Amino acid sequence: MPTIIDGNALAAQVREEVALDVAALMHATGVVPGLNLLLVGEDPASAVYVRNKGKDCEKVGIRSTIVRMTAEATQEQVIAQVMEWNADPAVHGILVQLPLPKHIDEHAVIRAIDPDKDVDGFHPINAGKLLIGLDGFIPCTPYGVLEMLRRYTIETSGKHAVVVGRSNIVGKPLAMLLAQKRPQGNCTVTLCHTGTPDIAEYTRRADILISAVGVHGLITRDHVKQGAVVIDVGINRIELPDGTSRLAGDVLYDEVAEVASAITPVPGGVGPMTRAMLLRNTVTAAQRCSV
Ligand SMILES: NC(=O)c1ccc[n+]([C@@H]2O[C@H](COP(=O)([O-])OP(=O)(O)OC[C@H]3O[C@@H](n4cnc5c(N)ncnc54)[C@H](OP(=O)(O)O)[C@@H]3O)[C@@H](O)[C@H]2O)c1
Repeated sequence: MPTIIDGNALAAQVREEVALDVAALMHATGVVPGLNLLLVGEDPASAVYVRNKGKDCEKVGIRSTIVRMTAEATQEQVIAQVMEWNADPAVHGILVQLPLPKHIDEHAVIRAIDPDKDVDGFHPINAGKLLIGLDGFIPCTPYGVLEMLRRYTIETSGKHAVVVGRSNIVGKPLAMLLAQKRPQGNCTVTLCHTGTPDIAEYTRRADILISAVGVHGLITRDHVKQGAVVIDVGINRIELPDGTSRLAGDVLYDEVAEVASAITPVPGGVGPMTRAMLLRNTVTAAQRCSV
């Protein structure tokens, strides 16, 4: 039986640690960390994500404010809101929920966020810092994956990590982090994507296999080496024969669990850690401006 990497339990640990840091910061400086979230449009999934992020903040003593704009909001209005928060010292973290309506240029909005308040870690300045190994903000999902590896004392140094998926928010930063000469790094990294002719040829050679694609069943038992660590970032809603549906990852969990040495479930794996690391980044932002 592989080790099941319990994202819910780890996220609870992170929340406890963050709550202690929030209390310590308030005690020392009187500063209450604040996260402001902007939701543009009526996408129901985005609305749920934003609401949950606000609730997570409450649990650890972070003040959160959610501002909602209609789908007709202009790019100028969105950027004006961001700029107002940039100038507000009570706002330590700014999160603009993606995706934005199609008429708004996401990159322009992300660029408008003060990099020191960019707790999602999507600003080009933070992406650049990540690339060259400077302290910025690490995007929450890659950060969550690194914390899972660290907290389960999974050795990364000298291992071959294969990341499937090259998005700017998950695959690419994760590949870069794993390649850095640092704890939870020092891997030899292979990055696969739709241009990779036969991903199994690479994934079968992985000591640590991370799938961040969004295709259920992409990773089967045949893609995994005996004893590999398998981290499933994918979240897919799959239809069941009885007409209901459930969430599942990219990995065929039951069959891959037979060969993996450690594996993350979906749900209950990377997802809760992503949420927890947003809290960590927000407190870090508040701590940095209080020194
Ligand atoms: N657990 C969490 O907290 C969390 C957080 C974020 C995302 N997610 C989930 O993670 C998944 C990926 O998210 P994302 O935002 O990174 O997605 P994305 O922007 O859609 O990127 C998907 C990546 O997968 C690659 N890809 C697609 N089909 C492939 C295939 N058949 N073989 C190899 N590579 C393939 C794409 O390649 P190309 O670049 O060539 O198109 C792309 O690089 C989604 O299921 C998302 O819901 C989960």
